[in-house]
Amino acid sequence: MHRFRGRLVSSHLFLAGVSSHTAAGAAASGSLAVFRRTLIVQTLPEPVGIVELKLDRPEAKNAIGKEMLKGLQRSLEAIDRDSSANVVIVSSAVPKVFCAGADLKERRLMSPNEVELFVNSLRSTFSSIEALSIPTVAVVEGAALGGGLELVLSCDLRICGENATFSLPETGLAIIPGAGGTQRLPRIVGRSVAKELIFTGRRIDGREAMSMGLVNHCVPAGEAYLKALQIARDINQKGPVALRMAKKSINLGMEVDMPSALEVEEECYEQLLNTKDRLEGLAAFAEKRKPRYSGR
Ligand code: COA
Repeated sequence: MHRFRGRLVSSHLFLAGVSSHTAAGAAASGSLAVFRRTLIVQTLPEPVGIVELKLDRPEAKNAIGKEMLKGLQRSLEAIDRDSSANVVIVSSAVPKVFCAGADLKERRLMSPNEVELFVNSLRSTFSSIEALSIPTVAVVEGAALGGGLELVLSCDLRICGENATFSLPETGLAIIPGAGGTQRLPRIVGRSVAKELIFTGRRIDGREAMSMGLVNHCVPAGEAYLKALQIARDINQKGPVALRMAKKSINLGMEVDMPSALEVEEECYEQLLNTKDRLEGLAAFAEKRKPRYSGR
């Protein structure tokens, strides 16, 4: 039996690592009673293809401890297995906070060896988010601090409300951002701005985050989720294999020199040549109608 921390919030929910079908069955049999919540994963009923991953640990402002990390890993595995998923929205179920970073209370009880194992695991989990084959959109209302911001950085797109606050405060705790922060932040905002933010731990708000290119959109407080949903719906209408190949091409290509990057692009394009969806896109254009993509 799967032992995750989560809760049933709708019949379309699937808990970390459990498909919607399985979760519904588990709910019917009452076996969800053993679960405690830290994460919610649910597929939106309409349109199919959008998956939501919500952090839900209100008592610790969504701080990530061992249990939440395990749930996160299993959620990612489940999302990866779900071939109907085209886009993931990562958000918080807790008002006024996205995520307070690593669980500092749990950290205090860890030996240096345990801290190393935990941080390595957090780093590889965020790399798994970045490596998900489908696009990911982070929604930030309130604070995204430390590991919370590193989680946001591992997503493809970032949408925030004006009330959002972002910071990597680790140097103030005599450590460094260790879950990809020192690498992903400079790649997104440039090394000089990243250095300032990491050296000082300064908190910035949504508008400043927007001005430095940390987020794609900054909208009035409380509207970030709706904006993300709008973008997710747009993405969800596109060719499913094309989305995966576009993400792969950008991610792999950006890490190598230009000639190699163009080879990566060529290989990704090749994957699309013999798809039914490519022909469907052309047919829909000729017939002046919306395409109906099947992901094949
Ligand atoms: N780890 C463990 N517990 C945390 C936490 C963390 N990272 N962040 C917050 N909490 C706990 C608080 O200790 C508090 O618990 P308590 O009720 O037992 O005292 C509870 O969550 C509520 O936090 P509180 O500070 O009262 O809420 P707030 O709304 O005033 O502020 C934050 C929210 C997130 C802005 C604030 O808690 C904060 O700055 N947290 C530290 C974040 C941080 O430095 N992270 C970096 C990790 S490297």
